[in-house]
Amino acid sequence: MTSWTPDSWRSKPILQQPNYPELSKVADVEAMLANRPPLVFAGEVRSLRKQLAEATEGRAFLLQGGDCAESFAEFHPDKIRDTFKVMLQMAVVLTYAGGCPVVKVGRMAGQFAKPRSADTETIDGQELPSYRGDIVNDIAFEEQAREPDPTRLLDAYNQAVATQNLLRAFAQGGLADLHQVHKWNLDFVAQSPLRDKYQHLSEQLDQTLTFMDACGISSVNTPQIRETNLYTSHEALLLNYEQALTREDSIGNGNWYDCSAHMLWIGDRTRQLDGAHIEFLRGVRNPVGVKVGPTMDSDELIKLIDILNPNNEPGRLNLISRMGAEKVTELLPPLVRKVAAEGRNVLWSCDPMHGNTIKASSGYKTRAVDSILQEMKGFFEVHKTEGTIAGGVHFEMTGQNVTECIGGAYQITEANLGDRYHTHCDPRLNADQSLELAFLIADTLKAARQR
Ligand code: PEP
Ligand code: CO
Repeated sequence: MTSWTPDSWRSKPILQQPNYPELSKVADVEAMLANRPPLVFAGEVRSLRKQLAEATEGRAFLLQGGDCAESFAEFHPDKIRDTFKVMLQMAVVLTYAGGCPVVKVGRMAGQFAKPRSADTETIDGQELPSYRGDIVNDIAFEEQAREPDPTRLLDAYNQAVATQNLLRAFAQGGLADLHQVHKWNLDFVAQSPLRDKYQHLSEQLDQTLTFMDACGISSVNTPQIRETNLYTSHEALLLNYEQALTREDSIGNGNWYDCSAHMLWIGDRTRQLDGAHIEFLRGVRNPVGVKVGPTMDSDELIKLIDILNPNNEPGRLNLISRMGAEKVTELLPPLVRKVAAEGRNVLWSCDPMHGNTIKASSGYKTRAVDSILQEMKGFFEVHKTEGTIAGGVHFEMTGQNVTECIGGAYQITEANLGDRYHTHCDPRLNADQSLELAFLIADTLKAARQR
């Protein structure tokens, strides 16, 4: 393989990039970004790798979640807080069920760029560039709005910095106290139409916390009860943004880290073996995710693993299966089997969102909570049969009470979708639906971890 440099991706074929009208302005912005502070530090990235290595071996579980696309319009501290809260609430349920630490990774503080199925969009005979996320252009269907604007790279960076700052404060500043998170869960259960289903687990958790308190393990003397860590991640789609934030480790070991987030992933549309995205990510030391959709072939998958993780290190590579509820039990087993037979150390997680997007008769893109649950159960089933480890889940979700996915205890219907449909791209689970799913897979996770 040829040698890697932060810009070696530039000589490879690349998909899903904006067509900027003036390339010199893009270069100016790249130069500015290259002088901005990193969002994360190499030491933090190394801690995440260690924790993901534990998840790879079944001693931890990955919970990755957040917006499909962060947006400039939806940017508000309360929204960041609410997504953070729901992630923590889900994590408590999964920690208890799995009897293992839950590694929390947000699709936050940088999840702005979106791959699209077509370069342009036509409405009433007018053809304009597709919306590619707020880091590229504006969602409004107007000529000026849709023109890619490189200064948006700086706006996205600034929003990511502010978001990351708030997440650090929330994680360390008392909001993450386990007792507090548990109290939110009790409120959720008390109000839920499905409370009978969740009651047992929440009572057990209550007793455990009371017992720990009685033993003198409290938030005052135990940082693990008081604080947490929420790592950040996004799809590494705009490689000029990623390159500009890539830094050589200051301890002089010659290692490079993409300091735009702790973890980066490659989308299902940009994972070509000889393409720019694989080239860029093979050279940074961050944990890397790869979306694995229905068109992935098992030989191709092994080649991809060998490029991205040549030393077969656990914690480096996360394969994020997104097959669809109907196909997961058919398409995933040959891949899991091949990877296991070839002895590759990878963390398998399940994205039950992207294979289950449907169009409602009203025109809204939506997803059914039942399909999401079905794909997750299928994913666990496959790993049980193959004797491998179901290592995590990956959700598009928000802490807001939106109406974007149908179903759930509050039975959102297609007719409700228009009430609070705020996403800039794909439909997200709302706070109740997200937490419900955590409760609904608790038993499955428990059974899997007891094996
Ligand atoms: C996403 O995670 O938002 C996404 C576009 O996923 P995929 O690449 O799996 O379609
Ligand atoms: Co999406």
